[in-house]
Amino acid sequence: MNNTLSILPSRENPRLDPAWVAARFDRVAWCYPLFETAFLVPKSARRSALDQLNLQAGNRVLSIGCGRGPLLPEIGRIVGAQGQVVGVDLSQRMLDFAQRQNERHGLQNIELLRTDALTYRGTAPFNAILFSFSLTSFGQPADMLHHAWEMLAPGGRMVVLDGQLPPSSRALVRPVLPTIRWFLESTVLGDPDMEPLVLLKDLGQPVNVAHMRGGAYFVAQVIKPG
Ligand SMILES: C[S@@+](CC[C@H](N)C(=O)[O-])C[C@H]1O[C@@H](n2cnc3c(N)ncnc32)[C@H](O)[C@@H]1O
Repeated sequence: MNNTLSILPSRENPRLDPAWVAARFDRVAWCYPLFETAFLVPKSARRSALDQLNLQAGNRVLSIGCGRGPLLPEIGRIVGAQGQVVGVDLSQRMLDFAQRQNERHGLQNIELLRTDALTYRGTAPFNAILFSFSLTSFGQPADMLHHAWEMLAPGGRMVVLDGQLPPSSRALVRPVLPTIRWFLESTVLGDPDMEPLVLLKDLGQPVNVAHMRGGAYFVAQVIKPG
């Protein structure tokens, strides 16, 4: 499936190499939250993603590319002792931060796994699956979405929080795209060539989208027919 803008030349995608991705995030794990400030991530974005997960006590939740897991404690509290949260990520250092955070919150229902989410099968099905700023760091985002969709229970919610080049600004930024690519690949790895909302539509279900910062950020929810 072609998930890049057709106007762009094809290029090697470092996101296809799990070892490279793990090394990239191991390197920035200590300062990762600073990038959120630098990239003007809206303060309400994570809360909005959490709301769209529509969690209930007892739910099983999967966070794909959970990183330092900023939402995991809140998710763990909502699903409670009867529920379960699984966070998967390639980067051990990102997971170390998540682990320390979970310990501070004293939550026993969160499991963290260092693994490639593309091959993770786990104990599906899940009632909710979250991609928070992770989908655009995948080299095969369409495959990842379809794999996640298979792990989702009927009636389950898939929520994607991410950034993108707003469609209205694509022509404008085209001359500086190589610089944007370089910067992102040197930091948080978001793929400026990806059109995540187009990929989500390929799941064949209505996509409920809330845009922020003029379309530079969005929270999208897709519900699996039950
Ligand atoms: C930009 S960070 C976002 C972290 C976190 N979800 C957040 O909202 O702060 C993207 C994360 O996705 C992880 N990731 C990328 N590709 C992955 C893969 N194939 N399997 C598992 N994790 C992956 C990276 O290691 C990184 O921690």
